[in-house]
Amino acid sequence: MRKIALAGFISLSSVTAGYAQDASDKTTIIHAGQMLDVESGKLLQDRFIIIDGDTIRNVLTLNDMEDMEEEDIDFIDLSNMYVLPGLTDAHVHLTSDANVHGYKRLTRSTPRAAITGVRNAKRTLMAGFTTVRNVGAPGFTDVDLMEAIEDGDVPGPTIIPAGRSIGITGGHCDNNLLPFENRRKAGGVADGPWAVRAKVRENKKFGAKVIKFCGTGGVLSKGTKVGAQQFAFEEMKAIVDEAHLLGMKVAVHAHGQEGINTAIEAGVDSVEHSSFISDAGIRAVKANGTYLSMDVYVSDYILSEGEAAGILEESLAKERTVGKIQRERFQAAVKAGAKMAYGTDAGVYPHGDNGRQLAYMVKWGMSPLQAIQTATINNAKLFGLESQIGSLKSGKMADIIAVENNPLSDVSELEHVDFVMKGGAVFKSKVE
Ligand code: ARG
Repeated sequence: MRKIALAGFISLSSVTAGYAQDASDKTTIIHAGQMLDVESGKLLQDRFIIIDGDTIRNVLTLNDMEDMEEEDIDFIDLSNMYVLPGLTDAHVHLTSDANVHGYKRLTRSTPRAAITGVRNAKRTLMAGFTTVRNVGAPGFTDVDLMEAIEDGDVPGPTIIPAGRSIGITGGHCDNNLLPFENRRKAGGVADGPWAVRAKVRENKKFGAKVIKFCGTGGVLSKGTKVGAQQFAFEEMKAIVDEAHLLGMKVAVHAHGQEGINTAIEAGVDSVEHSSFISDAGIRAVKANGTYLSMDVYVSDYILSEGEAAGILEESLAKERTVGKIQRERFQAAVKAGAKMAYGTDAGVYPHGDNGRQLAYMVKWGMSPLQAIQTATINNAKLFGLESQIGSLKSGKMADIIAVENNPLSDVSELEHVDFVMKGGAVFKSKVE
């Protein structure tokens, strides 16, 4: 390191506010005391992550560093920390809030939802989640939020927005709270193969980068059954074909077995919730390479806080069966070796608590490494962003987090992330 003129430690005064300094054209070196290679599961000692602007140039040992001749480098000392790639969440609703459920939702305008999203985007990033898939938002508030973050107006993770979730009339993705004379219809409602194709095209036109549709009833919607399939095979197939033609992945909300099996056959890329997935369903996802995104934490929040938050009694009743079985089926899917993603349904529970699910995954059959892999490399593959995120490798985005203690010993360490860099810019640092 002798030839390196360190420009000094970066100023963290702007960091605490959650707004990072411009990372566009400088070189930063992070000294990682322990760096987790999420693919091999190895902890590598004393690695130096060289970052140009927003991209990782290289990861070097001290020996390799001797040959570097550079000046004006910002140096970040994480020599006492465990350094990992930024975490990711495949299933969030940034524009929704945990204390706004049931009929309270009807009091919220779309602009209000966008403002909620601004606050939640920051919380999510500060929790160490540097990329999220936003699978359903009123209007296209998630697209606007993505753009505001990209423009540097507000801090937040990289967002893959779905825009409006597509669903049948009266289904989980519709709004069924009001009687006929005050009827409401959610923006993503469409019936019939051609109508759903048109919805996919419209979502794409207004900025969606992933398609979400509802393939069964749900817990939180009024008058739907979690076990009942929504959309016929032909409609699901039309959604998937059209989305794939347009270069977008498809996530299906599905709890019941029939809906799950039909959606897998239609070619979806991930099954969200997957609560009652059958053994045949697990075999089918393995054969097709479909990811399971099972939100095994949220049930505890719904059952303890749900009533106060305005969740309908009928939803609480549904959750009492769904949560328990979902965890058992998660365990079965892990044991069978199904591909697992990390999706949590943040927005049902408070944003920023996204990391809590990791410990639940470990409790229900995963090793800490496997759980961390779901939230890093597995999600990166599901998102089609494997060349950009998910591990700390040359050419990938400098999305980097750090914690004080070994997350492979106790994965709940990741519930309190101490350092967050996104795209080469530091947003959070408790490091002196
Ligand atoms: N948004 C989902 C639904 O309403 C939440 C399900 C939460 N419950 C669970 N056990 N994962 O269906």
